[in-house]
Amino acid sequence: MTVSSATGPRFSQILGVGGYRPERVVPNSELVEAMDSSDQWIQERSGIKTRHRAADDESVIDMAVAASREALAYAGLEASVIDTIILATVSHPFQTPAAAPEVAARLGLTCAAFDISAACAGYCYGVALASDLVRGGTAKHVLVIGVEKLSDFTDPADRSTGFLFGDGAGAAVIGPSETQGIYPTVWGSDGTHRDAITQRESWIEVRDRDLAWPTITMQGQTVFRWAVWSMAKKAQEALDAAGVRADELAAFIPHQANMRIIDAMIKTLHLPPEIPVARDIETTANTSAASVPLAMERMLREGTIERGGLALQIGFGAGLVYAAQVVRIP
Ligand SMILES: CC(C)(COP(=O)(O)OP(=O)(O)OC[C@H]1O[C@@H](n2cnc3c(N)ncnc32)[C@H](O)[C@@H]1OP(=O)(O)O)[C@@H](O)C(=O)NCCC(=O)NCCS
Repeated sequence: MTVSSATGPRFSQILGVGGYRPERVVPNSELVEAMDSSDQWIQERSGIKTRHRAADDESVIDMAVAASREALAYAGLEASVIDTIILATVSHPFQTPAAAPEVAARLGLTCAAFDISAACAGYCYGVALASDLVRGGTAKHVLVIGVEKLSDFTDPADRSTGFLFGDGAGAAVIGPSETQGIYPTVWGSDGTHRDAITQRESWIEVRDRDLAWPTITMQGQTVFRWAVWSMAKKAQEALDAAGVRADELAAFIPHQANMRIIDAMIKTLHLPPEIPVARDIETTANTSAASVPLAMERMLREGTIERGGLALQIGFGAGLVYAAQVVRIP
């Protein structure tokens, strides 16, 4: 495939979104014994009632392909138009190769394909990259996928993460547009908090000290405070960068980290009560890189948001990293 040196169209847009949630639904009651918790505590502190868990033989590749096919169908496009795949994940269990080339092959493609690692901000990072690849003329149609099988990296006895994560995949097709469909991205990182959410030990430590399988550990309160105090500000900056007022939004789609974080952000943003807010966390839990596209896919499927309106989306998580942007709903 040739990389064009020409500049692309002035604008880009999301042409379609798709999602995949594994068949198996796991209620809180199945998890509470291992972490000495209760259904009531989990619901009160996080808003989570159930999550989906992938089957043992179901991989991030399988889930990514399923979500991608949905996004292509929504956009009314054949896979053959895709010339770049950006796959965001932190739970593909191979250090190398990346998951994206395998997804490309499963879709019958030999296009540019690579993974990015930006945890729960991965999809919004991917949208920023895809938009600029299209507008720069390097790509015409980019498939952005957020996919996680965090059940493989979760310690069932860990009280702060044992109930938090869900498995799934979300995808979007991003292509050219005559009007603005993806507004400027506000993004950044704070690596001084690298320990706030981290794989417990490095692969080297696991090998050399003969340790057990390394799962993800989280300082819940640190992450909670950071999200509540800092992320609403970043969401507001994304609105300002787009020149859009909160009351002009057709939807607010924050990362599905915790229902209380979502409620706090709504307050800080002074979001009018009639604006639909994604609350997919209740039955999908926190699917990290998949959470924002899955939440948008669900709102569209259930008819709670209107196509063509503007959505403010924000992802944030391990790193710490974040990315926010206003997008036109496909
Ligand atoms: C994980 C989280 C739900 C924990 O809630 P919290 O209100 O901060 O809980 P705390 O750790 O302060 O613990 C409060 C109490 O509940 C107890 N507790 C902690 N985990 C528990 C559990 N799973 N079940 C029952 N009780 C639990 C604690 O022992 C403590 O008891 P105490 O008051 O008697 O000492 C919350 O911190 C959170 O959602 N953080 C952000 C998570 C996030 O967004 N992560 C993803 C970013 S990508």
